[in-house]
Amino acid sequence: SERSLVVSCSRLERDPRRSADVFARRPCSEAIGHMDSLFKSRYVPMNRRRRIYEGKAKILYEGPEPGTLIQHFKDDATAFNAKKHAIIDGKGVLNNRISEFVFNQLNALGVPTHFIKRLNMREQLIREVEIIPLEVVVRNVAAGSLSTRLGIPEGTQLPRSIIEFYYKNDELNDPMVSEEHITAFGWASPQDIDDIMALAIRVNDFLSGLFLGVGIRLVDFKIEFGRLWEGDMMRIVLADEISPDSCRLWDQSTGDKLDKDRFRRDLGGMLEAYQEVARRLGILNDNASAANAGAPSLVPDVTDVPEQE
Ligand code: TMP
Ligand code: ASP
Repeated sequence: SERSLVVSCSRLERDPRRSADVFARRPCSEAIGHMDSLFKSRYVPMNRRRRIYEGKAKILYEGPEPGTLIQHFKDDATAFNAKKHAIIDGKGVLNNRISEFVFNQLNALGVPTHFIKRLNMREQLIREVEIIPLEVVVRNVAAGSLSTRLGIPEGTQLPRSIIEFYYKNDELNDPMVSEEHITAFGWASPQDIDDIMALAIRVNDFLSGLFLGVGIRLVDFKIEFGRLWEGDMMRIVLADEISPDSCRLWDQSTGDKLDKDRFRRDLGGMLEAYQEVARRLGILNDNASAANAGAPSLVPDVTDVPEQE
């Protein structure tokens, strides 16, 4: 069938040598294993780690074990496909913490994700997945490109949650695509799309409630998914990040924007807005830690020390 064809194609694309490569780069894996038992940590200093991929706001490094990566959050803020760019000191620290908080809770609810654990102020350990080249947008309230495209005033409650797909391709400016395009071009099978939509709805229900509980309206958000291989079995898991960079969050009572629209629309106060989201979620408990997040010091705090296990 068409579905199994797409699935078997994506299985063929998986290079069986990739996991072997990881071992090949570790010719002394036995010796390293021995050292591990001495030092009880495989922490490799950041400047010696292999960079796998660099995006606009994050960098992926080779992880400590095969099948893992380290996701590093940068302070770069970009909009309109990086035509607009700024460095917002401390944004990466906040997004790392907010995304950790959300992914931990999703994992606990049984929503499969790539997230394993936060390592330090800017980095988290994740499972290596094959990213499905789609940006999945879920909308509860009209805003942004939906309002522009369809002429629906920003702030209009939608009759139901709407899921949209965009093809992840910077050269093409992430064009909107339909399920027809996705299946015809083999980016995902009909079964994959069913799984993605079911997961997206679960994430939306969880996030809507989470933010409602702290006086924030979840207007819309963008998520990404990846394929996780366990032997011959493939599972689709939530990947990337969930943070004020990828959500629209409006204060319930004032309507203030607490997300990246502050940067896109030159409203100012972006970092303060992200701090406010973190504070309401109980991640930053006091003004002292909020101030620290804005000006990460060069002296590593305790969370920068790799955990000894
Ligand atoms: P949009 O209204 O501009 O299409 O954005 C919808 C949601 O997706 C909004 O929460 C912002 C988020 N988003 C991203 O995370 N990355 C992007 O590149 C774009 C365009 C939007
Ligand atoms: N993240 C995208 C960019 O850098 C767009 C956006 O979020 O508005 O261009």
